Amino acid sequence: MLLNSKRLLIRNFKDSDLESFLAYRNNAEVAQFQGWEVPYSREQALRFFDQIKGIESPKAGHWLQLAVELKRTGEMIGDLGLRVIEQDARQAVIGFTIAPAHWRNGYATEAITCLLEFLFDDLDLHRVSADCDVENTGSWRTLEKAGFRREAHFLESFPMGGKYGSEFYYGMLQREWRARNS
Ligand SMILES: CC(C)(COP(=O)(O)OP(=O)(O)OC[C@H]1O[C@@H](n2cnc3c(N)ncnc32)[C@H](O)[C@@H]1OP(=O)(O)O)[C@@H](O)C(=O)NCCC(=O)NCCS
Repeated sequence: MLLNSKRLLIRNFKDSDLESFLAYRNNAEVAQFQGWEVPYSREQALRFFDQIKGIESPKAGHWLQLAVELKRTGEMIGDLGLRVIEQDARQAVIGFTIAPAHWRNGYATEAITCLLEFLFDDLDLHRVSADCDVENTGSWRTLEKAGFRREAHFLESFPMGGKYGSEFYYGMLQREWRARNS
């Protein structure tokens, strides 16, 4: 897969992405609200690279992981996750990470917008959703900047570090995407 925005390429992972990926996965701020622990070992990263190799385009019920590359330098600066849901191939869930050295440059918003264009315009999806910890301000602000609508606030809905964390759920419909871009 290859998607193209003004400053970014969104593409399948390459073996040469390993060092960049390991560096940001081992950053405590990046991992804080994510599903892995720091330290994140080279072995874990290699296993992850192996797992994702089998899925290079959207496949219902499976996570597709895409690398975010900065066109100007060729550097891999983050990743996007995309899962078309098994029960309905016109709905997907997304996730996103950008390496800290590149935060606050609009890259997450640009990468998500590029992915949404592909999902809504090319794949004709009906709905895309995402969720995040309510304390992950960067994440929910990014989702809102990309045009997502907050749909739910689940109080103390998941166990994390010996207590319960709360989550925001966000959604966007194809018609909302079209209205936003018309
Ligand atoms: C969330 C994340 C992807 C944002 O990446 P980014 O490239 O810095 O985001 P953008 O530059 O596109 O910013 C989008 C908006 O969010 C705001 N924002 C980004 N990080 C923020 C933070 N830490 N606190 C408050 N606002 C923040 C930006 O200011 C911008 O809004 P504005 O233009 O109105 O000011 C990045 O912080 C990250 O990878 N975090 C760790 C992984 C993670 O938690 N991913 C989400 C899992 S649900």
